[in-house]
Amino acid sequence: MSDLSALPLPSTADLAHLRRIVAEWRHDGLRIGFVPTMGALHDGHLSLIARAKEKADRVVASIFVNPTQFAPGEDFDAYPRTMDADAAKLAHAGCDLLYAPVASDMYPDGFSATLTVGGPSQGLETDFRPHFFNGVAIVVAKLFNRVQPDIAVFGEKDYQQLLVIRHMVRDLDLPIEIIPGETLRERDGLALSSRNAYLSTDERRVAASLNEILAAFAHDLSTGIDWETAQGKALAKAANAFERVDYIEARCAETLAPLPPGPVHQPARVLAAVWLDKTRLIDNMPAV
Ligand code: PAF
Repeated sequence: MSDLSALPLPSTADLAHLRRIVAEWRHDGLRIGFVPTMGALHDGHLSLIARAKEKADRVVASIFVNPTQFAPGEDFDAYPRTMDADAAKLAHAGCDLLYAPVASDMYPDGFSATLTVGGPSQGLETDFRPHFFNGVAIVVAKLFNRVQPDIAVFGEKDYQQLLVIRHMVRDLDLPIEIIPGETLRERDGLALSSRNAYLSTDERRVAASLNEILAAFAHDLSTGIDWETAQGKALAKAANAFERVDYIEARCAETLAPLPPGPVHQPARVLAAVWLDKTRLIDNMPAV
């Protein structure tokens, strides 16, 4: 763990310290924005900070690689940890405070609370990572309690996560406005992700085709063909390009509920998760 006092922006791992700073801001009548992250920051994260700065007077970013959202055998240990570089990027982006708690503080011995989320968490990611959204929900609920922001920004890159958090905030009456941040893409269309760092040069080239396949899927839906036919075409292309396809689906954009059979007459979202060797890529975009 880096020495937080040496980082180029105000930083703390201490909950009481975080609360003191936020309380002073609140006392001064300032609006507080929050961007939770797991670090390994790229321009996509920095665009979320920029969005939070548009909506709030002070912005807190958290960096915490949350163990409860990884299953045994997933990439928790390998997940890139780049605190010094992250802090430099946050400082440059104008973030006001970095909160970087340690795991033993977030989950002390004997920690036993769980949160089970339903609604938009059903299917898609949950079919392949059943632990994931409950782990995200518990850590985000704890971070919300700790930071107590007025607004929080979540990227559309993790579209299902965005809807799960919105739903959780509504269900638990948390007074926090959830604001979406647009997905940032490389020139060839690949969505920015911390996990892109795992890709070899060859894999990186193939990875860009996920964007093309989803864009063609969304276009097909807009022509009025049955979503089942459009999905079949997208699946065939994805199966050809990638080593494994977890899912490639069209869902209701607002709730992620499955669509009624046939042509799509409502705002929809196409979403996919695919594998290149040990790297899992996810992406999504609006359709219809
Ligand atoms: O999207 C992420 O990086 C994580 O799921 C989050 C929201 C920071 C919770 O650990």
